[in-house]
Amino acid sequence: MSDKTVESFRGDRVPGNLDAIVIGSGIGGLTVAAVLAKAGKRVLLSGPVAGIHYLGQLHENSLLRVALDQITEGQLEFVKLEQHFDTVIIGEGDGHRAYHIHAGKTEMAESLKQQFPNDTEAVAEFMRLMKMMPLGLVRFLIWTGILSRISPIFRLAATSHTDIMASLTQNKDLFALSAYFFYGVTVRKGEEDIEVRAPVVISNAGIFNTLEKFLAPEIRTKPEIQSQLSMVQHGMGSFLVFVGLDGTMEELGIVSTNFWMYKDNDLDRLMENYSSLSREDVAKNIPMMFITFPSAKDPTANVRHPGKSCMTLLTMAKYEWFKEWEDTKLNRRGPDYEDLKMSIAKELLEWALIIFPQLRHKVVFIDAATPLTNMHYLGAPRGEMYGAEHNLGRFTPETVARIRPQMPVKNLYLTGQDVFCNGMAGALHGGLLCASAVLDHTVYIDLLALKKQLKWRKAQKQA
Ligand SMILES: Cc1cc2nc3c(=O)[nH]c(=O)nc-3n(C[C@H](O)[C@H](O)[C@H](O)COP(=O)(O)OP(=O)(O)OC[C@H]3O[C@@H](n4cnc5c(N)ncnc54)[C@H](O)[C@@H]3O)c2cc1C
Ligand SMILES: *[C@@H]1O[C@H](CO)[C@@H](O)[C@H](O)[C@H]1NC(C)=O
Ligand SMILES: *[C@@H]1O[C@H](CO)[C@@H](O)[C@H](O)[C@H]1NC(C)=O
Repeated sequence: MSDKTVESFRGDRVPGNLDAIVIGSGIGGLTVAAVLAKAGKRVLLSGPVAGIHYLGQLHENSLLRVALDQITEGQLEFVKLEQHFDTVIIGEGDGHRAYHIHAGKTEMAESLKQQFPNDTEAVAEFMRLMKMMPLGLVRFLIWTGILSRISPIFRLAATSHTDIMASLTQNKDLFALSAYFFYGVTVRKGEEDIEVRAPVVISNAGIFNTLEKFLAPEIRTKPEIQSQLSMVQHGMGSFLVFVGLDGTMEELGIVSTNFWMYKDNDLDRLMENYSSLSREDVAKNIPMMFITFPSAKDPTANVRHPGKSCMTLLTMAKYEWFKEWEDTKLNRRGPDYEDLKMSIAKELLEWALIIFPQLRHKVVFIDAATPLTNMHYLGAPRGEMYGAEHNLGRFTPETVARIRPQMPVKNLYLTGQDVFCNGMAGALHGGLLCASAVLDHTVYIDLLALKKQLKWRKAQKQA
């Protein structure tokens, strides 16, 4: 394997007799390291950690919750969002329509029926389909992803879904809304090279870094590796705007509900049009945006930052739009890059201020992150926010069967979102699948047994 930079790594702290080394400590790396350690293995985990916006399926004793509690030894605490967790706004200007999404299967169905009084049967059928999709597990995992909902990503896995919905309803907004649902080693430190040897090497750095950067050239060019690489594409990058606001959530009238904005209900065309834009035209033609208020979701925010709030705006962005500056360094990319970045950031902010006019004079800070920022902080080779692209090809039986934790190199494994599915929950499952492969034991069996036991114990307590 060729050399790779991992920050805050100290050779003198490396214990001997390692069973496995995990490169990268995202949720995928943490999961596999925790499971292997629980199985009595000596594991070295390296690398910094990252953050997210919101997750689903975390109710007591859900599979995701049990797994997270196991991995973190119950140290993570979650805050429940507003029951009205998402608002989807379709269309522009006076013609825009707002739809509200509520948590809970029954509540969600009821509120959708109220919002689409002429399509109650389509809503009922849609809710039924969501339950029994052949892609059931995939949908469950995607549910927790965010970008997967606004990117072309899933329009795809949803091609059959598109046909079904078309037969159920003429309402283009309901159609768009249903798409929103589906879319819903040598380690180097400074100058010295430290050699870490372990029988098993697990990479959390994504399939592209693992196969294109970590492997020595003579291995990288082997047909097995090239064939594996040919099956995946880089996902789209993200563009984020961080807005600092003067005032508490009560003073500003903001809540934890997320907002999804689409300028048109034809999401496929919207994305096609957007991704074919040239860099100069991006700022004036952004067709979708996600708005969230992280401070409104955090009960400790007002203690830690009294009298302040924050808003994050997010959209997709192509790596090519920023490629010119790929070799520049963070905070030193030059005025042209800053201009492009801030012109996009300001357009997104103006759009958000149409929805939240009360915030106009409360903005005290604005900064933005481009695909190059993801490259810097996440090691994402093309600024991907969600790893490999989740297009239809990614879920063909052949690809699903071949993109496994076991890489075509002996004792090299992949963990995280590129194993199976993106998002925090997807990356966690990637970790469980990877641990299962390394241990040659299906850890899901233990997890399901534990889930059953916890439920039983709870029932005993209540009885
Ligand atoms: C801004 C943002 C918001 C998000 N919000 C949500 C959300 O609300 N809900 C949700 O479900 N998902 C969200 N996601 C997606 C989610 O964060 C990812 O799908 C998930 O964290 C991926 O986990 P992972 O373990 O596969 O990879 P990562 O968490 O990216 O971890 C990869 C690890 O590999 C390391 N690494 C990378 N390259 C190298 C290298 N060359 N050498 C050594 N180490 C390397 C990195 O430093 C890191 O430690 C969000 C993503 C972003 C960027
Ligand atoms: C429902 O259908 C009626 C009759 O076609 C129409 O007048 C009305 O605007 C529709 N309502 C909605 C909310 O689409
Ligand atoms: C896509 O672009 C075409 C050509 O400019 C335009 O007519 C169409 O309205 C656009 N569609 C969407 C959904 O943005």
